[in-house]
Amino acid sequence: MSERYLLGIDLGTSGTKTVLFSQNGTALTSAAVEYPMSQPQNGWAEQAPEDWYNAAVVTIGKVLRQSGVDPEAIAALGISGQMHGLVMLDERGEVLRPSIIWCDQRTGKECEEITEIIGARRIIEITANPALTGFTAGKIRWVQKHEPEIYQKCRHILLPKDYLRYKLTGDFATEVSDASGMQLLDVPNRCWSDEVLDKLGIDKSYLGKVYESTEITGHINREAAAVTGLSEKTLMVGGAGDNAAAAVGTGVVADGRAFTTIGTSGVVFAHTDKLAIDPMGRVHTFCCAVPGAWHVMGVTQAAGLSLKWFRDTFCQAEIDAAASMDVDSYDLMNKEAALSPIGANRLFYLPYLMGERTPHLDPDCRGVFFGLSAMHKKRDLIRAVMEGVAYSLKDCLNVLGEMGVTPAQMLATGGGGRSEMWRQMLADTFGIPVCTTQSKEGPALGVAILAGVGAGLYPSVREACDTMIRVGRTQEPIAENQPAYAACYEQYRKLYPAMKDAFKRLAQ
Ligand code: XUL
Repeated sequence: MSERYLLGIDLGTSGTKTVLFSQNGTALTSAAVEYPMSQPQNGWAEQAPEDWYNAAVVTIGKVLRQSGVDPEAIAALGISGQMHGLVMLDERGEVLRPSIIWCDQRTGKECEEITEIIGARRIIEITANPALTGFTAGKIRWVQKHEPEIYQKCRHILLPKDYLRYKLTGDFATEVSDASGMQLLDVPNRCWSDEVLDKLGIDKSYLGKVYESTEITGHINREAAAVTGLSEKTLMVGGAGDNAAAAVGTGVVADGRAFTTIGTSGVVFAHTDKLAIDPMGRVHTFCCAVPGAWHVMGVTQAAGLSLKWFRDTFCQAEIDAAASMDVDSYDLMNKEAALSPIGANRLFYLPYLMGERTPHLDPDCRGVFFGLSAMHKKRDLIRAVMEGVAYSLKDCLNVLGEMGVTPAQMLATGGGGRSEMWRQMLADTFGIPVCTTQSKEGPALGVAILAGVGAGLYPSVREACDTMIRVGRTQEPIAENQPAYAACYEQYRKLYPAMKDAFKRLAQ
């Protein structure tokens, strides 16, 4: 049979990237387009769904032109998406308002109401998570209360990647991994919860049909084929939320395997074949992209976002220098940070720019530099940001440990995971080896693998991973660094409890 190809689209927070893979997982060509996030108020975050669609159209077109591949040879495509975002469409399928995205924190009150209406224990029993500000149900309730005229016109509620699916195939559908983050799914049973929907006054017909991540949900429709250059024969699989997709793309598809992402958010993720729920709700339990399995994960709200914010606000010199040298500005920042010692000359950073999930579940906390002195240089601040993110990820790993999930090694992925220095910090802080995969396309490769299974090129996700993923470098913890990081981490852990009440007052 002639060579078949697979397409992976990664709809992220900073941009969308489309990657074309050969059947054996080699990335042939890719294209990316960035878009803005608007913050109309402190703690709010919105994006325009039209920007996601335009980015997908442009990047698919570019990838097809760059590769010269016959579109009919692309067997299937999958989409990985930033999770939790709320997209509302009217009866004609038109977008009703900007999407309220995952890191938006406006729904503290609505989450209290949801907990009250459904019951604190019952919501965890059904959705495997407590009512959380990032999740979609609180956002829907916010629109019901604050913009009733918009909710009246709403006929379809979609997640970001499922909006893209609708635009590319005409189908209203989702899949279990992303739907788990809506707080409307019965996570143990992998279907919509009638109880939650009834109690929250959400019409089930507004939600798409739920598939497993490897299932075919449709194919490219005529309009999308015309604007993208794709063939109408190309199939669309369920795809996955970005973290479930990254898990597949790094081979974290069996018990005992785990990965850390440093993307806009940061995640520590472990696969589990058996349902496991933290009764305190500090980490999430979601259906994973391997049919019939789940994952547990802790989330740092602003991981890569912290460094990006610092770069965009304070590092114009590095941005300009990088442009003139044709290198990545983050590489220059890494070099500066390496000049500062472990502990950044007694400077700490709390990465709570957008509130925090694991372990605090606090929408009101905010970022902090603690210990600033006139002796500090920019290099210390950059290092403190990177260390603060590593400590926050260590908080996530500790909660997984309390649930009995103790990975022996960790894969690192996401933009920040490409930094050798950040990976070494993780290895030294976690005290376990941190490795990479040869492909840097975690989520896009993950959904391409799911597409390969859906199109029948591979019999299962695990077998596809065995062929399509190649492990890269491993960094061992450096023994002499570990006590220094451990001492700093102990100090870091004391800062949030000391400031908790002050954050509440600040929010008021
Ligand atoms: C996961 C989460 C983020 C987003 C954006 O719960 O909110 O990881 O998916 O990346």
